[in-house]
Amino acid sequence: MREIERLSEMRAACAAVRAAGERLAFVPTMGFLHEGHLRLARVAREHAGRVAMSIFVNPLQFGPGEDFERYPRDAARDRALAASAGADLLWMPSREEMYPELPRVTVAPGPAGDVFEGAVRAGHFVGVLTVVLKLFEVVRPDVAVFGRKDVQQAALVRRMVTDFDLGVEIVVAPTVRESDGLALSSRNVYLDAAARGRAALLSRALAAGVERFRRGERSGAAIAAAARAVLDAEAAIATDYVACIEPVTFTAAADATGACVLALAARVGGTRLIDNVVLGEGLEGDVRAGG
Ligand code: PAJ
Repeated sequence: MREIERLSEMRAACAAVRAAGERLAFVPTMGFLHEGHLRLARVAREHAGRVAMSIFVNPLQFGPGEDFERYPRDAARDRALAASAGADLLWMPSREEMYPELPRVTVAPGPAGDVFEGAVRAGHFVGVLTVVLKLFEVVRPDVAVFGRKDVQQAALVRRMVTDFDLGVEIVVAPTVRESDGLALSSRNVYLDAAARGRAALLSRALAAGVERFRRGERSGAAIAAAARAVLDAEAAIATDYVACIEPVTFTAAADATGACVLALAARVGGTRLIDNVVLGEGLEGDVRAGG
């Protein structure tokens, strides 16, 4: 695995892969890697002869008062994990390298960027799409792999690729979960023991919604309410939203189909977590860490 810091060096290394006639797959991350990220690298490997991974804690996508400063970072561990997952190129640009000054031109995500995560975290998806566009422009991958865990992000990236005709194939990989169902996240390290125990309720809430769907319920509101009831039963969980969502437009689905996404966001012991499930697939469609 070759480690790169400079943007110009990364651009040249990726150009060399293409010049050699190899397909290049790309996995952008913010580091503090876990099995979910590593799984994306392995999926990437199935799509291309060469895999590039980036680690950059992107200041543009954190709002005021969010966790940019304390976001977990561990470059040495990340290097070892990225290598173990088969990355060929690991790009870890410094903030000065990526943004010597803040960009004045940014990507507007459109209406699907203003709802759910975008409604709670104003400007978040502007920051995500702006950095992803820059990363894509440097790497120019044939294919890029994103996690379904961040389903709204994946949908917006897909739409950006379509609208700007970026020519990058977007692959969305299933969510990797702990054995009790908690979706892996770099932010799970913020959870103390009590909060960690309660956090399993998020995936249990999703399972309750899926169960209603399987029993024939097709009202999006009723399915969301079944999930919400699980969270509401725990006073120490503050729910931001639970909704049954159309997967492309990210509008609330009045009539649920198997393609709809049941998504939620909740704060557990001060840590904000998100999770979702595709109704027709259920949590069985996801992957267990170590499994
Ligand atoms: P980050 O949160 O580090 O996530 C990087 C990628 O890993 C994203 O595509 C995310 O969906 C995926 N991922 C996270 N947890 C996962 C899990 N449990 N199972 C499967 N995939 C998982 O998402 C970002 O970084 C940033 O917004 C980024 C796209 C890098 C732009 O800054």
